[in-house]
Amino acid sequence: MHSPPSGSPLYQSPKMRRGLLLLLLCQLSSYTLVTPGKVCSRPLVGPSIEHSDFQRVYEVGQEVFLRCIDGYTAISGQRKIVCSANGRWSSLTFTCEPKRCSNPGPLLNGKIHIDDNLFQSIINYTCNEGYILHGANTSECLHDGTWSNQLPECEPVVCGLPKTPKYARLSYSRVVGNTTLFGDSVTYECFPPFVLFGNEVGFCKPDGSWTEPPECRLVTCPPPTAIPNGFLVLAVIREHGYTEEVTYGCSPNYVLDGPREVECQKTGNWSSKPVCRAPCTVGIKRGRILYHNRKIWIENLKPNRVLHSERLSVYCKNKEKDCGYPVVTQCIDGELTIPACYDEPSAARYKVYASSLPSEIEMC
Ligand SMILES: *[C@@H]1O[C@H](CO)[C@@H](O)[C@H](O)[C@H]1NC(C)=O
Ligand SMILES: *[C@@H]1O[C@H](CO)[C@@H](O)[C@H](O)[C@H]1NC(C)=O
Ligand SMILES: *[C@@H]1O[C@H](CO)[C@@H](O)[C@H](O)[C@H]1NC(C)=O
Ligand SMILES: *[C@@H]1O[C@H](CO)[C@@H](O)[C@H](O)[C@H]1NC(C)=O
Repeated sequence: MHSPPSGSPLYQSPKMRRGLLLLLLCQLSSYTLVTPGKVCSRPLVGPSIEHSDFQRVYEVGQEVFLRCIDGYTAISGQRKIVCSANGRWSSLTFTCEPKRCSNPGPLLNGKIHIDDNLFQSIINYTCNEGYILHGANTSECLHDGTWSNQLPECEPVVCGLPKTPKYARLSYSRVVGNTTLFGDSVTYECFPPFVLFGNEVGFCKPDGSWTEPPECRLVTCPPPTAIPNGFLVLAVIREHGYTEEVTYGCSPNYVLDGPREVECQKTGNWSSKPVCRAPCTVGIKRGRILYHNRKIWIENLKPNRVLHSERLSVYCKNKEKDCGYPVVTQCIDGELTIPACYDEPSAARYKVYASSLPSEIEMC
């Protein structure tokens, strides 16, 4: 057997042969993963780790240095791993974690919406009602541990000065130059005798405008009118302004029902007037009544009149027990009902047998 001459394509030096073998083995290893005692395959490192040399295979004894990818920091473990004789890497203990950005806050008059402050986290900023955000409303934690944007500012909404309604003056809670801020208030006051309609207090709203101002109007009530069976205490009949009062009274024997004083209201109407209630005549001719705790014959009630809401009793008879009893009735605005059990005696009986009337016999 003779070898092909060196230089021919078939010639292989021993070194080349070794290299070919290595390549073959390596290819084999990629199929079987078992390369006893010869080489190490690429080290399996976590997603946040990268290494210095990048090769397909590594020889026994070869060292590889690990480092954290951008945005991550090493927290523990050996930076160096070595391909050992059994084709395995020395134990991989190196770990990295994302960098942390500092706490961005606080945001005055606003809120920071933050889930976490790790590398690549995105936080949002919002301002409270009545404040406007100046700056970026979002920020990202960068690889170097800083935020991509500066903290924004929440500046208060600015309102101009509120309009002054006619016949009114304003007093502010606070005013600087020509501007007022969200939440500022103003108090409206009408010059007398004008009357305020609407809200007495106004506010600078979150949209930069003022609440609707009130109106100042003149309120007059028409000249007060008389009431039946009564009179106005006041002499001069004229128009009246808001809150002015007039006083009513009733004719003799009429009883005032309701307030004596009546006021001119904001609506331009008078508050409800009182009513004069009429007296009653006691509608019996012959008999005795119990009135003001006194038993009196009707002909002695002079004049025959009781006032509105007064009570009195007439007498009825219990025929079974042969006794008398009083029954109450009341004068209601000129009407006094005589109880049905009342039995009016004839004129003759009244004269002769007065002592047998229900009011005179034994009480039940
Ligand atoms: C920030 O805003 C975005 C878009 O509106 C939203 O998808 C995200 O969840 C918000 N992040 C936080 C932390 O609130
Ligand atoms: C941030 O501002 C943009 C417009 O500048 C807006 O479209 C977006 O909704 C805002 N995001 C948040 C969370 O307020
Ligand atoms: C207020 O407004 C008036 C007129 O609009 C202006 O001339 C004046 O300079 C303003 N004053 C301030 C303090 O802004
Ligand atoms: C005033 O009284 C009149 C008559 O009672 C009524 O029609 C009118 O609605 C009242 N006005 C107001 C403003 O309440």
